[in-house]
Amino acid sequence: MWVYICRVARMEATGDNVALSVYVQYNRYEHSRVEGQVRVARILALANQKGGVGKTTSTVNLSAYLAARGFRTLLIDIDPQGNATSSLGVDKAACSYAIYDALLDGTPLPEVIVPSGQERLALVPSTSVLLGSETEAALTSVDQREHRLVDALRSLPDDAYDLVLIDCPPSLGLLTLNALVAAEGVIIPIQCEFLALEGLVQLSNNIQLVKRTFNAQLDILGVLLTMYDARTRLSAQVAEEVRRFFPNRLFASTIPRGIHLAEAPSYGQSILAYDPASRGALAYAAAADETIVRLGLAAPLLPAPVAAPSSEAGVTTEGGLVSRVASRLARPFRGGISVAD
Ligand SMILES: Nc1ncnc2c1ncn2[C@@H]1O[C@H](COP(=O)(O)OP(=O)(O)OP(=O)(O)O)[C@@H](O)[C@H]1O
Ligand SMILES: [Mg+2]
Repeated sequence: MWVYICRVARMEATGDNVALSVYVQYNRYEHSRVEGQVRVARILALANQKGGVGKTTSTVNLSAYLAARGFRTLLIDIDPQGNATSSLGVDKAACSYAIYDALLDGTPLPEVIVPSGQERLALVPSTSVLLGSETEAALTSVDQREHRLVDALRSLPDDAYDLVLIDCPPSLGLLTLNALVAAEGVIIPIQCEFLALEGLVQLSNNIQLVKRTFNAQLDILGVLLTMYDARTRLSAQVAEEVRRFFPNRLFASTIPRGIHLAEAPSYGQSILAYDPASRGALAYAAAADETIVRLGLAAPLLPAPVAAPSSEAGVTTEGGLVSRVASRLARPFRGGISVAD
């Protein structure tokens, strides 16, 4: 109780009333879960078997903002395409090991981890020369094939990370299954386009199956709309359909379509490093804060990064997207976020 009062006082002192009001209702978890005496990182998988919906962009940029907010974050690139690895500017050829060495040969994760270039953000790279299907095929022949990532995560030192984000490939094969078996929450990025919801019944069923069979703690943490264009009816329609399909799960923050988000990976940078005042950056900053709230974590450990004016036309950092999202977040979420409802 005393810890709780101190934490609330600290949030009030930082003026973080949004986090405070929601925190009071979502006071379910400590900063990281405590199992026995060991602090366990909170693990999230970003999954959608549809290709090109913004899984990697969201994993990279959410990770960057979560790290900037003070959480020690590990990004695991489990996709053989290795797009998250390249997006962070990590030279694949210079990596001694990759995620598959951990999954297939049991190489301890600490030997695989490389720095990302950003403080508090580390990466488990993917540098596979194999195709996705070949990697999946190699996994089918190993013992406990759906628990390989769980086993690999056990090799991390206790209390080394607060958060682990896993970038999944565009399939519901063994790699995504490993991520879902290891995670407590799934973030589903959905691109605002025609047939956006195609495949979501299957994804939702798979999540429920994993929950029943392997991992009772698994929940959908939230659905994140990406490449949202507020000027089109289509984006609004997709948002409405998603709200109906996943009641109470839609992130208040939506990610707009923006050239800077598409450009940043080619410079090997997150949007926080590339253009922190762009619309996309503000949206991912807000989505990261919402992730913190949805996880019921304590208030961010560090203040939000201050952004210089963007080169993007018409973007201001004052009273913009972040404060709009914050005011929506101040209203309590209705209902729970369990997969079963
Ligand atoms: N909000 C956005 N605005 C503009 N471009 C974006 C946005 N989000 C993602 N993109 C671009 O869309 C493409 C697909 O995004 P991304 O790689 O994140 O999707 P993905 O779901 O990880 O794809 P895959 O299924 O192949 O792994 C990339 O070129 C990316 O730069
Ligand atoms: Mg990807």
